Amino acid sequence: MTQDEMKIAAAEAAMKYVEPGMIVGVGTGSTANHFIDALATMKHDIEGTVASSIATEERLKSHGIRVMELNNAGQLSIYIDGADESDHHLNLIKGGGGALTREKIVAGASDKFICIADDTKLVDVMGKFPLPVEVIPMAQSFVAREIVKMGGIPILREGFTTDNGNIIIDVKGLEILEPVKMEDEFNKIAGVVTVGLFARRPADVLILGTAKGAKVLT
Ligand code: 5RP
Repeated sequence: MTQDEMKIAAAEAAMKYVEPGMIVGVGTGSTANHFIDALATMKHDIEGTVASSIATEERLKSHGIRVMELNNAGQLSIYIDGADESDHHLNLIKGGGGALTREKIVAGASDKFICIADDTKLVDVMGKFPLPVEVIPMAQSFVAREIVKMGGIPILREGFTTDNGNIIIDVKGLEILEPVKMEDEFNKIAGVVTVGLFARRPADVLILGTAKGAKVLT
């Protein structure tokens, strides 16, 4: 099975959590795109969706799936999204696609967060994947210096602007042994909009696509 086939297996397995009448929060990335394709089969049964990025909104609409504003949707039943890394406690690194801020908002507004990923994403200790941080542009140098003090290597994502008009600094060289503590440390830096660590609000369920099909971790 290819990595993409494993992503499809995870995305399709997430469909069993979608019930008629739900408003579904939808994440961003290639795995989330496979979920959107599967969700199209239920587009007349769900009440609607809330998108975590402009790209996701466009893909949902291209399938004729109703997209709602989060402010009009209230608390969501579920949020389904991919990840760049997950540890065994379902703490996540997200933001490889740069949508981390809206992803964190929609995840926070959802009762249940179901993460879908191929099994290469499951790690013992997170940090090999560079940790994305969304930053207000004028704070770039200051935030980079603070990251160095924390032991990280800040790398500007060249030529990339988030849906919110900000920049992304990817942080290499971290060994994330205490994810909640590290999330809080990043959040204290002035100019940081969001860090791509999802530890205060981890996933509730991780569906991993493996060579033998989908495997569910809780
Ligand atoms: C986007 C994300 C994605 O969920 C993450 O990058 C995983 O992407 P993919 O499903 O393409 O492997 O956080 O901001």
